[in-house]
Amino acid sequence: MDFKLTEEQLMIQQAARDFAQNELLPEVIERDDAQRFPKEEVKKMGELGFLGMMVDPKYGGSGLDTLSYVLVMEELSKVDASCSVIVSVNNSLVCWGLETFGNEEQKLKYLTRLTTGESIGAFCLSEPEAGSDATSQKTTAIDKGDHYILNGTKNWITNGSSADYYLVIAQTDVEKGHKGINALIVEKGAEGFEIGPKENKLGIRGSDTHSLIFNDVKVPKENRIGEDGFGFKFAMKTLSGGRIGIAAQALGIAAGAYELALKYSKQRKAFGTEIANHQAIAFKLADMHTSIEAARMLVYKAAMDKDNHENYDLSGAMAKLYASKVAMDVSVEAVQVHGGNGFVKDYHVERLMRDAKITQIYEGTSEIQKIVISRSILRD
Ligand code: CAA
Ligand code: FAD
Repeated sequence: MDFKLTEEQLMIQQAARDFAQNELLPEVIERDDAQRFPKEEVKKMGELGFLGMMVDPKYGGSGLDTLSYVLVMEELSKVDASCSVIVSVNNSLVCWGLETFGNEEQKLKYLTRLTTGESIGAFCLSEPEAGSDATSQKTTAIDKGDHYILNGTKNWITNGSSADYYLVIAQTDVEKGHKGINALIVEKGAEGFEIGPKENKLGIRGSDTHSLIFNDVKVPKENRIGEDGFGFKFAMKTLSGGRIGIAAQALGIAAGAYELALKYSKQRKAFGTEIANHQAIAFKLADMHTSIEAARMLVYKAAMDKDNHENYDLSGAMAKLYASKVAMDVSVEAVQVHGGNGFVKDYHVERLMRDAKITQIYEGTSEIQKIVISRSILRD
């Protein structure tokens, strides 16, 4: 494994770092408080090429590798995980899914808008009765010849009200189980498509999470992705890469919290010396640094597996499982290092701690990652 970054990767990393410091940091606390979607910031990220990072330039993408994408996710997440989840969903679920499995018409029609920030996308798999148990889809897409009729409810959808295009997973043929599921592109504004109220969340409060309700929504057959019955595989294959993005988000949250704790520990004095000189604090920093480095190795390795066309189901799941635990552990310790200041918003670490939790839940909970990992090692 050679993690020596190329000149280009270093430049992209620096661009994301500058953007996060100059454009995301100034209002991140207000956005979190007000649960305000970062509309202007998303537009700017589109201009910087962060929304279609791995997409072929012929569809408006940046044509970069997964490692570059991970570097950007890491830098954005150090400052604002609400922004980075928007980037993650748009890049690794929506754009990647469409580019890899969509047909040329779909790519030209949708991908070209999704890569530039003109539009953003949402990925709609979860339902009230089908979260971890994703094959238990209750949303139906009934085949009516040249179109489907979509009925049901999706919940927890990131970019729920801000997206323009929704990749919706639904059951067409119940008898066929997961082989009777399809993935459909649904446009905002379709008749019968209703967006539920925004969730009031613990973390990533700038990202808008909604339920979506479909009442007899007519979806043309040309909006189906792949062959009839490919929808569940589509979701699983897409999520395998998505998990690398969320692992990078977790890594960034951990690294952001650690950087703040390190700086604070060298400034704050107690008992006549900087708190970093107390071994209890210095050892916390040592543990944080070590676990972040280990998480980084797993995340970069998973990204490189994807770039090298190796199987990344296992490495992506391990990266997400481990990095999300590190994000949680490190952010809790960063609050501790800050003492009372860690408990108030101005010092940022309490937000990072709240944001860290979601990385253990979405795109497959930690328990689900262990299912994926254990099945893989037992099978092989
Ligand atoms: N690639 C390709 N195919 C896959 C696959 C993968 N990575 N994983 C599973 N499959 C296939 C299986 O091979 C099987 O097909 P066959 O019968 O043809 O072999 C089919 O899918 C069903 O698989 P399982 O029998 O393993 O299904 P299961 O019911 O045991 O569930 C699971 C497997 C891994 C637990 C799956 O349900 C799962 O991933 N659950 C978590 C759901 C999830 O991650 N949701 C995230 C929603 S999006 C999101 O959260 C976005 C966000 O927050 C920002
Ligand atoms: P459940 O499946 O009910 O799980 C409850 C608990 O039981 C968990 O601890 C779980 O790990 C455990 N559990 C369940 N089954 C097993 C098992 N077999 N073995 C061991 N433990 C098990 N979904 C989308 O489709 N698109 C999105 O954009 C999206 N964005 C999200 C944004 C946010 C802020 C949140 C909170 C969720 C989002 N989700 C999204 C949904 C997310 O993927 C699900 O919440 C997640 O997959 C877990 O499903 P669940 O909430 O139904 O929990």
